[in-house]
Amino acid sequence: MPLVEISNLTKIYSQSESALGGTSRSRNEVRAVDDVSLDIHAGETLGLVGESGSGKSTLGRLILRLIEPTSGSIRFEGRDLLAASPGEMRRLRRDMQIIFQDPFASLDPRFRVEDIIAEPLLIHGSETAKGGIRARVVELLRAVGLDESILQRFPHEFSGGQRQRIGIARALALRPKFIVADEPVSALDVSVGAQIVNLLAQLQRDFGLTYLFISHSMPVVRYLSTRIAVMYRGKIVEIGSTDQITERPQHPYTRSLIEATPEVAV
Ligand SMILES: Nc1ncnc2c1ncn2[C@@H]1O[C@H](COP(=O)(O)OP(=O)(O)OP(=O)(O)O)[C@@H](O)[C@H]1O
Ligand SMILES: [Mg+2]
Repeated sequence: MPLVEISNLTKIYSQSESALGGTSRSRNEVRAVDDVSLDIHAGETLGLVGESGSGKSTLGRLILRLIEPTSGSIRFEGRDLLAASPGEMRRLRRDMQIIFQDPFASLDPRFRVEDIIAEPLLIHGSETAKGGIRARVVELLRAVGLDESILQRFPHEFSGGQRQRIGIARALALRPKFIVADEPVSALDVSVGAQIVNLLAQLQRDFGLTYLFISHSMPVVRYLSTRIAVMYRGKIVEIGSTDQITERPQHPYTRSLIEATPEVAV
C-alpha cells in the first residue's frame, strides 16, 4: 500500500467571486491542480518539478490538508484524509509536516529557538515534563547539525541556512513519516542549499522519512529524488524514475525543463 494515494485531486481557486457579474465565471477561475492522481511510496523521495504557477505548492498543501480540494481524494496509510474526523486529523497531522521555502518568514521572530522547536511537542506530544521537552529539543538540534548553545537565541540572530535547520528540527519534532519540502533551498545560496539538501538526505536515512520534494530546479530534484513528477498548468504531465525522467524524458515540457537547466553538481 502506498503511504500517500491521491486520486483525481482538483483545486479550483475562484478569484474575486463577489466581483463577478453575469456569465464570465470561468475566466475568474484558476485550476491550480487539475485532476491529479499519484502515489507516494514509503521511504522514497518524490521530486515535484514545474515552472512558477504550475500548482506545486497547491498540490503539496492539499496533500497535508492545509487547504481543501474542490474534488478528489487523498489517502494516507489507506485512511481517507478528507473523511477524517477532527480528532483523527489531529493525530494524522503528527505524521505529516511541511518545510517552507522562506526561512525568514516561517519562524516566529518573537520566540526563542527552544520554544519554536518545543511548540509542536507541547501541542501534540505525549511528553509534558519540562526536562523531557528540553532534552528532546536538544536531540533535534543535534540531528540538524546545531547544538544547545542556541536554545535561548532568536531567529533574527541566524543566517538563512541556520534558520532552515531550525525549521527542519521543528518539522521533525513529532517524528513524522512524511514531509512536504516546498522549495526548501530556493531562497538560499547554492553552497548553503547543497548543505541543506545533504542534511535532508541524511535525515531521511536516519529517520526513515518519505519526502515530497518540490523545486523548480531539475538538478536539485535529480540529486535527491527516487522518482520525479513533472507538473505543468495543474497537471502531472510525466512521472517516472529519476533516470527515466532525466535520461529519457517523453514529454516536450520535461525536455524543455531539462534543457533549461545546466548540469550542476549539488
Ligand atoms: N490562494 C490563492 N488564491 C487564488 N489563486 C491562487 C492561490 N494560490 C495559488 N493560486 C494560483 O494557483 C496557481 C498555482 O499556484 P502555486 O502556488 O501552487 O504554484 P507553484 O507551482 O507552487 O509556483 P511557484 O513555483 O511560484 O511556487 C497559480 O496560478 C496561482 O496564481
Ligand atoms: Mg510554490
